Amino acid sequence: MNALITDGFNRPLHDLRISVTDRCNFRCQYCMPAEIFGPDFPFLPKNEVLTFEEIERLAKLFAQLGVKKIRLTGGEPLLRRGLPELIRKLTLIEGITDMGLTTNGVLLTRLAKELFDAGLHRLNISLDALDENLFKKLNGRGVSSKAVMEGIDKACELGFHIKVNMVVQKGVNDHEIIPMAEYFRNKGITLRFIEFMDVGNSNGWNMEKVITKKEMYEILSSHFEIEPVDAAYFGEVAKRYRFKGSNAELGFITSVSESFCSSCTRARISADGKLYTCLFAGNGHDLRVLLRDGSTDETIKNEITSIWNKRADRYSDERNNHHPSKKKIEMSYIGG
Ligand code: GTP
Ligand code: 5AD
Ligand code: SF4
Ligand code: SF4
Repeated sequence: MNALITDGFNRPLHDLRISVTDRCNFRCQYCMPAEIFGPDFPFLPKNEVLTFEEIERLAKLFAQLGVKKIRLTGGEPLLRRGLPELIRKLTLIEGITDMGLTTNGVLLTRLAKELFDAGLHRLNISLDALDENLFKKLNGRGVSSKAVMEGIDKACELGFHIKVNMVVQKGVNDHEIIPMAEYFRNKGITLRFIEFMDVGNSNGWNMEKVITKKEMYEILSSHFEIEPVDAAYFGEVAKRYRFKGSNAELGFITSVSESFCSSCTRARISADGKLYTCLFAGNGHDLRVLLRDGSTDETIKNEITSIWNKRADRYSDERNNHHPSKKKIEMSYIGG
């Protein structure tokens, strides 16, 4: 029987984001700036990363505590060797009704079929610009936007449900809002505009670089007729809209201008098995130690329950009250 547990603000535990690696083949400035994540960066050694068996065990325990939805993240999750094997295991877990993966898309042309066959049918793919030169610069590795666009096409052909994520930064890629909207509307793929967030301590965030939902909406409305669409479920991260007269949708993820902490039902697990109760948390709770010291399922579930019961995170609601030097985990470590 699956129990429902709630936190200090009565928010249930509903979603689990699992990071399967802290590594990435991109160096987006807003997430893994190359100056910091260089050749000597101490990424997690293999023995500190959860095995597939450990991830599966944790996912089962979370499902028994009410989690219905799993999202695999990274770094770049497709860098984790043998990922389809993990997906196969996770899709069999009783109570899990939805599974997605968030990727930069570059490896999709190679891996999409295997992932689909393993039972993964939902992908969120990041793409911040169509423009070749700009995209090459943004990903910090000179990768062509065509590589991602081909990955998206391949995944579409296979039948994946796809959403594209675009992190918008003022003066950097805001001129790509219209071309991106046009391109994905024509393909019937949902595009979500993400407000640039102050995740971690190394991405040089400040409010001047944020372009808010309101500003993006104004830019879009000068070119397209768009209308709001109801949220698909309680706690949906994106505010959804549709191009009038078509089924193509777009969305806004407004962590900065309209926070959504009051309905936040998400727990996160880092690749080394720490449980974080907020994307902006400073510290995690080590579950790996329990997985490796012979603790019983009951003990681990009690620990998770106790952590969730005490949860009082609402960072985005309180953003302005936090000191800029507050220690926060890095985005690449926790997967967004
Ligand atoms: P689905 O709704 O299942 O499609 O996924 P999602 O939109 O929750 O996940 P995705 O990985 O595509 O994340 C999109 C953006 O939303 C990323 O920038 C995430 O960092 C951000 N995001 C997701 N969950 C949260 C959250 O709880 N708080 C904040 N502040 N941002 C979040
Ligand atoms: N602000 C907003 N979104 C971000 N992402 C990574 N860093 C940031 C940030 N600072 C996005 C990625 C990906 C998702 C997991 O989070 O582009 O789509
Ligand atoms: Fe960019 Fe995503 Fe890699 Fe971060 S994890 S560097 S956002 S591709
Ligand atoms: Fe949830 Fe923290 Fe994001 Fe608020 S800031 S929605 S509590 S993860």
